[in-house]
Amino acid sequence: MNLPPSMRCVEITKPGGPDVLVETTRPLPDYNRDQVLIKVSAAGVNRPDVLQRLGQYPPPDGASDLPGLEVSGIIAAVGEDVDAWKVGDHICSLLTGGGYAEYAASDAVTCMPIPAGLNVIDAAALPETVFTVWHNVFDRSQLQPGESLLVHGGTSGIGTTAIQMAKAHGCEVVVTAGSDEKCQACLDLGADIAINYRDQDFVSIIRDRPKKGVDVILDMVGGEYIAKNLKCLRPDGRLAFIAFLGGSKAEIDFMPLMLKRLTISGSTLRSRPLSVKESIAKSVTETVWPWIEKGQFRPKIDRILSLTKASEAHQIMESSSHIGKILLNMETI
Ligand SMILES: NC(=O)c1ccc[n+]([C@@H]2O[C@H](COP(=O)([O-])OP(=O)(O)OC[C@H]3O[C@@H](n4cnc5c(N)ncnc54)[C@H](OP(=O)(O)O)[C@@H]3O)[C@@H](O)[C@H]2O)c1
Repeated sequence: MNLPPSMRCVEITKPGGPDVLVETTRPLPDYNRDQVLIKVSAAGVNRPDVLQRLGQYPPPDGASDLPGLEVSGIIAAVGEDVDAWKVGDHICSLLTGGGYAEYAASDAVTCMPIPAGLNVIDAAALPETVFTVWHNVFDRSQLQPGESLLVHGGTSGIGTTAIQMAKAHGCEVVVTAGSDEKCQACLDLGADIAINYRDQDFVSIIRDRPKKGVDVILDMVGGEYIAKNLKCLRPDGRLAFIAFLGGSKAEIDFMPLMLKRLTISGSTLRSRPLSVKESIAKSVTETVWPWIEKGQFRPKIDRILSLTKASEAHQIMESSSHIGKILLNMETI
């Protein structure tokens, strides 16, 4: 593939509001012998990009300073030691950064084929949320078919993915969301129960169910939800934190932890070793991609904007008005 000398991209000029995202031109990124260079079709926008823009989530050592944790596109070049992919392959991949650009370098082991029946643009919505849900709900919390999952932030990119993956796995899904419209969107995606947390008490609704609680909780809110989550868990329940949008401090009565034999965990995906990401990529390609190919899971896409609208994408994300994923399309720059 003929490569241009430079590419268009969006960089964070300084920590701040959405207007610090500025379009610029840079040389194509370097890639090493275990990496590939991707001609990006689309990049997913994720809440961690907002935190990076605000200066609260610096890129790990060796990562691009450009935002963007996931892309889809076509392989434009491969490193000397890469056997699994060739130039021209259509893929999507999890990145440590650099997705808001026409070209991105990616470790070969986090690249995955585009699931059959999904277009290359929409595939950019998959890596970050599918990896995060798989790692926290399926790997670490061991959600089993027949069990119940509570997802806070049901209409987030993560939430819309978690609902569909848990349903495909044969689980009951309960969600919380901030409006009746958002609750309806979660029910449309397959959730069994959707609770508008602004005017309903999710703890009493969940504890009053015949099952008297849920088996696993995926929480991105924290704060006052931390104690409430412990009340919602059934014996041997598992609670996984992936963010603390409502604060990371709380005064907790830990007695339920002991009496119900609960497990609490948390993780951040970006800093995990490449070997962990490689293992997740294998698992999701084997298990989640067939769900997509059978129509059991479709990434829920709120809107697709041109890369030049990255600031607008962040404004929308911070307003929390979106339902599902926001994508940046490189083909319409
Ligand atoms: N640990 C990891 O590995 C990892 C990986 C990826 C993402 N994350 C985290 O997971 C969360 C979801 O990511 P995403 O990209 O799916 O985000 P997103 O689409 O922007 O969704 C976040 C949602 O959280 C809900 N929310 C509840 N309480 C909130 C509060 N106090 N402030 C703001 N929003 C609140 C909002 O919906 P309502 O209107 O319903 O409240 C909002 O739509 C983010 O916090 C992100 O940083 C963690």
